[in-house]
Formats: sequence, structure tokens, C-alpha cells
Amino acid sequence: MTRKRVGILISGRGSNMQALIKAARADDYPGQIALVLSSRPDAGGLAAAAAQGVATAVVDQARFGRDREAFDAEIHRVLTTAGIEFVCLAGFMRILTAGFVRRWEGRLINIHPSLLPAFRGLKPQAQALAAGVSVSGCTVHHVVPDLDAGPSIAQAVVPVLPGDTEESLSARILEAEHRLYPEALRAVLSQASPKP
Ligand code: GAR
Repeated sequence: MTRKRVGILISGRGSNMQALIKAARADDYPGQIALVLSSRPDAGGLAAAAAQGVATAVVDQARFGRDREAFDAEIHRVLTTAGIEFVCLAGFMRILTAGFVRRWEGRLINIHPSLLPAFRGLKPQAQALAAGVSVSGCTVHHVVPDLDAGPSIAQAVVPVLPGDTEESLSARILEAEHRLYPEALRAVLSQASPKP
């Protein structure tokens, strides 16, 4: 089995990244986590990745100001230099340019903490509470130039309970994310490289 070289893009604590690294240690997992790239030098996930023996890189968003094209070009350069074949966004809090998304089309996925198409964009857990829904969850989806609008790969549902706060609902969804993302990546990579 050829294991696809996967890069994970983060901006923060990287708990989904850690779930992916852990899952990819299984002998039969169709991907290997070859690089963790952060948009922020102070992202907690960088130390966690390094502690797991995964190569890390920083493309500091602060160095690029408003020049999103240059920022994305540098990310593309670092990914391709590392021989990355497939990219997972995991708490990557920058909107990628359409040009970058097209270059990685079909090889770029994201996890979002709502049942898309509901509650796209920022603070989806708060949006769910404000809407008064009784279930929410998370979605792994292909990335397209429109924010949080790509085809869904997998979803997990969690209840919204009476008295939930943004924190309690986020924590419940996050647990589901840690199960869903590794399964969804496995499914996508298995489709992308069918066994001979
Ligand atoms: C996760 O809940 C992820 O779904 C969300 O940020 C959190 C990152 O946590 N992503 C988005 O909201 C993207 N629009 P993590 O760094 O611990 O994985």
C-alpha cells in the first residue's frame, strides 16, 4: 500500500491534528502525516506535532499583511517542497485564495464544527445556540473557493442540551470531530488510491 503524504494546516492548539497523527500510526492507514504547517508561530499544535516526531513548518501570516496571494504561494511552496500530496485543514483560521484552492482541488479537505450547510463561517457553535437547534455536529468537506461550501464527505451529529453554553457545545462537538476526521480522511484517501 502506498501511503499518501499528508500535510496538516493549523493555526492553534491542534487537537484534530493530534487525532489525525494518532490514527495515521495504524499500519493499514492509507496516509502518513508528513508535515504540520502553522500560520502562527505560537500555535500550540506545533510543539505537539514535534513531540510526535512529525516535521513542522511555520508560514507566519503576520509577515504577509493583507497579501493573501503571497501567503498562499508560500504555503504552496512549503507543501510541494515537502512532497505533500494531500492537505487537511484542522483549525486553520485563514481563508485560502481561489487560486490555491484550485491548485489543490480534490486534495484539500476541512473540518467545520457544524452540520453544513447550516452555520457556515465564524463561531458556528454560537450560531447553533442562537438558532435554537436541538442537534448540531461537525462536517468534513472538500474545500472549494466559497467558504464552507464544498461537498460533504462525512458528518457526525451531537445533541444540543438544555443549558448548553458555547464552551460546552464546542467541547461535545470537538469529541465527535476527533472521531470523524480520521475516518473521513481514511475514506477519501482510500478512494483516491484504490487497491490494485
Ligand atoms: C475545531 O473545532 C475545528 O472544527 C474548528 O476550529 C477548531 C480547531 O480546534 N475549525 C473551524 O472553525 C474552521 N472554520 P483544534 O485546533 O483543537 O483542532
